[in-house]
Amino acid sequence: MTTPVGPADGPFAPLVDTYGRTHRDLRVSLTDRCSLRCTYCMPADGPPWIPGSDQLTTPELLRVVAIAVNSGIGAVRLTGGEPLLRPDVVDIVRAITQMPGSPEVSLTTNGLRLPGLAAPLVDAGLQRVNISLDTMDRRRFEQLTRRDRLIDTLAGIAAAKAAGLDPVKINTVLMRGVNEDEAPTLLLWALEQGLSLRFIEQMPLDPQHSWDRSTMVTTDEILRLLVTAGFDLSEAPGRGSAPAQEWTVNGGPQTVGIVGSVTRPFCGDCDRVRVTSDGQWRSCLFARTETDLRAPLRTGASDGELAALMRLDVTGKQAGHGLDDPGFLQPDRPMSAIGG
Ligand SMILES: C[S@@+](CC[C@H](N)C(=O)[O-])C[C@H]1O[C@@H](n2cnc3c(N)ncnc32)[C@H](O)[C@@H]1O
Repeated sequence: MTTPVGPADGPFAPLVDTYGRTHRDLRVSLTDRCSLRCTYCMPADGPPWIPGSDQLTTPELLRVVAIAVNSGIGAVRLTGGEPLLRPDVVDIVRAITQMPGSPEVSLTTNGLRLPGLAAPLVDAGLQRVNISLDTMDRRRFEQLTRRDRLIDTLAGIAAAKAAGLDPVKINTVLMRGVNEDEAPTLLLWALEQGLSLRFIEQMPLDPQHSWDRSTMVTTDEILRLLVTAGFDLSEAPGRGSAPAQEWTVNGGPQTVGIVGSVTRPFCGDCDRVRVTSDGQWRSCLFARTETDLRAPLRTGASDGELAALMRLDVTGKQAGHGLDDPGFLQPDRPMSAIGG
């Protein structure tokens, strides 16, 4: 796929930071609202919601995406919150896929609304989906998400497959004493179902600020759990800028991914930028600063001026996420308000 990019020093120059990383992947949060309340992501009553008047309207959101696409973004992932709660999500997908260069559009979702939406989304041009599932046990699912909806997530996964999405990726966060014992069972199930499972190390993005490095389940531990259960794993080559390191299972061709954001950071290859549902541009998931696009959008800024703001923010991107720095401070926004 080729995306037309402006001249290197024009108003729509590529989004290159001071470390030479060119940004091609945009994560767009469509809403901070969610239909689940995962304990590691949201408080039981939800965080203070972003006021509706602060959320970007769909024309505003599409304008931001179009400017980013014009500046070299070739892949757009819609997330949240729960992106399928946005009533016009199908129209948003269609509009982005029709932008110059036909950006690839993907989605990260809890899957609850996929039974009704998977087919229209594919019809609109959605290419890939990641569905979050941390346990196959109904009671655990209810404890983890504070909602008794395991059956609906499983129906969403089935709907994604039936609609022809391939691969369907499953995102699983393992937590000690909560669900880490399910790692082998989840992998076996995913292999049988033809799903691509990715374990994600838990990151310090919880609203309670209770994340503890000493108790998190690490990549090494996940590998140990799987190998001890009898899986033969070998590291797959060609990771590129992907967050997940893939491991070939039992000689392949199927793989399992591990996103080792904490113990095996991949910041040197990061090509991701983000925009929140209230129009704040972020160059890193862990950034403690963001650039407001909403006010300039609403006060007549030109496309070139908005592109310049994006590029300036990217210029300030740090070399790494800083989790190992003694002075590390978690971002003020929880994951649900940034967009995972
Ligand atoms: C924030 S959710 C938003 C999209 C959608 N609602 C979903 O459930 O996938 C995106 C992904 O972030 C992951 N996530 C949330 N908080 C996390 C944390 N503290 N550490 C690691 N992953 C996290 C979720 O498990 C999910 O796979």
